[in-house]
Amino acid sequence: MCGIIGVVAKSAVKSVLEGLGRLEYRGYDSSGISILSNNKIHTIKAEGKLTNLKHRLSRQPIDGDCCIGHTRWATHGRANVTNAHPHQYGQVSVVHNGIIENYLHLKQQLMQWGHHFNSSTDSEVIPHLINHYLAQPMTHEEAIEKAIGQLKGSYALGVLINGANNNLYAVKQGSPLVISQGSHGAYMASDAMALGADSGKIYYPEDNELITLNSNEIKCCSRSINKKIHFINNKKYVKAVSKGEHSSFMEKEIFEQVDLLKRLSVNNHTNEYSIINFKDLNKITIIACGTSYYAASVAKTWFEQYANILVEVDIASEYRYRSPVVIDNELTIFVSQSGETADTLAALRYAKSKKAQTLALVNAVNSSIAREANFTFEIYAGPEIGVASTKAFSCQLAIFYKMALEAAKQTAFIDKQELTQLALNFVQLPYIMEKVLQRCADIKLMAKKLCKYSNILFLGRGVLTAIAQEGALKLKEISYIHAEAYAAGELKHGPIALLDEQMPVLVIAPKNSLTEKLLSNIKEVQARNAPLFIIGDHSINEHINLRDDEFFELPAIPESILPIISVIPMQLLALYSAQTLGKNVDQPRNLAKSVTVE
Ligand code: F6R
Repeated sequence: MCGIIGVVAKSAVKSVLEGLGRLEYRGYDSSGISILSNNKIHTIKAEGKLTNLKHRLSRQPIDGDCCIGHTRWATHGRANVTNAHPHQYGQVSVVHNGIIENYLHLKQQLMQWGHHFNSSTDSEVIPHLINHYLAQPMTHEEAIEKAIGQLKGSYALGVLINGANNNLYAVKQGSPLVISQGSHGAYMASDAMALGADSGKIYYPEDNELITLNSNEIKCCSRSINKKIHFINNKKYVKAVSKGEHSSFMEKEIFEQVDLLKRLSVNNHTNEYSIINFKDLNKITIIACGTSYYAASVAKTWFEQYANILVEVDIASEYRYRSPVVIDNELTIFVSQSGETADTLAALRYAKSKKAQTLALVNAVNSSIAREANFTFEIYAGPEIGVASTKAFSCQLAIFYKMALEAAKQTAFIDKQELTQLALNFVQLPYIMEKVLQRCADIKLMAKKLCKYSNILFLGRGVLTAIAQEGALKLKEISYIHAEAYAAGELKHGPIALLDEQMPVLVIAPKNSLTEKLLSNIKEVQARNAPLFIIGDHSINEHINLRDDEFFELPAIPESILPIISVIPMQLLALYSAQTLGKNVDQPRNLAKSVTVE
């Protein structure tokens, strides 16, 4: 993943550090900057979070008008200072986001030419290659173009070269990069969100279009691409987001869901969805990763149940390598909070190459997925900073629910009365959600007990299996408790062998058409002495008699909106378990918010 930024402006270091703060969601294994000052490059790096780099800089202050910075999510090589970017060699310093697939071959060649390497990264070959070509001699632009011509894989690069000019070079292939012209300077970054308030105009460069940024101008300097840059207004400049009264961004984002859902339920976006001709569709395929994939799994049930449309759901990294069949009148929907997930983007490109109609459901409307799909719908969740996705999930579900109702209207599969009731359920949704959130102390009680275990099984039935999966994912990613989820009916086909006093089972058991069936599964768990936790309807506990720290009572919830409400206690359970165990819930280990590598 990694985040890169470059600034040509007065006090460039300050702007780069601020930008890195906004990019930390892409990785926080290490960070570093290079400054071009008095024709000389100075590089400072630190292991771990950005605060460590700031601390080093406060002891060794430095500034200049041309600076590049990087925040790392380790792929090749451990998270330490040597592997941190920028990678400086000879006259050149480089920040890189992406993966150089042929780096071993290039490294071998460079070593034969007498180059010595410090790090175990793939990225270090880039400054070596540029240096090699500069010595030919070549101009800066020629040397960079020649070097990138050797690279296989994906990259977005910021390059500084020692010398008389204060130029910053930027180029990308397959990885996100945005260039910006402000009134005080020129900027480049992995993401428009990283740019500060001075980023009035932005430009998304094409693959291999080499851009030079300096205090006078921003220009395309590729030999093969002769192009004038047309900037567009940066409408989506995101102001710094604060945690407010909350202990973490994740907590804030969980509690924000009520207001977001209130806004989504009164705004009449449904008209927007009528641009899709659902009536003539033969099939919908929904493709995503992680939490967004679980939102897609819920959406499948809604489209099938209310509009009778055939829906297939696929994991992006599987779809892209499976040569899937694309049929006539198939709509392929790509769900992504960040809009930059590499696997989802590659799957979108594959579907487009097969002439599928593509629709993006994203939170980041300036993202690559949003820009490349035929249609884009926004989920209106606002910036999500916590690495574990919460509010984006419920907003994805809310938009899918509205789309499913539009599809139901067009196909007339359910009668008007039922359709009206489904729409009314949606209006009630935020108020029911509020009631659940008001009882967060009860979930805290459950979390205190649950987090003592090292493993846990989550069970759900029907559409709530996806919510059990989402609950298990949330718990493992921020508390590091091993959690797996199953459709409750599958328990007896294998996982039941795991059950004993040390293997707790958490069941989502609201009142719905499958309650009776689920009760039998719960009895099977009890008979094996496995500790039982239930998030469910009060009627269930009449049969089971769990204690207050084992049973969380859900209010009465219309069946159609159950998935959007029942995920709330799951999110809270993960949050409070992780907090009780003293984990950093906003920046869990090994993860990054935007997964821009395969
Ligand atoms: C889990 C989580 C991830 C993302 C996944 C896809 O909390 O955040 O599983 O859902 O990496 O990300 P997007 O939706 O940005 O494509």
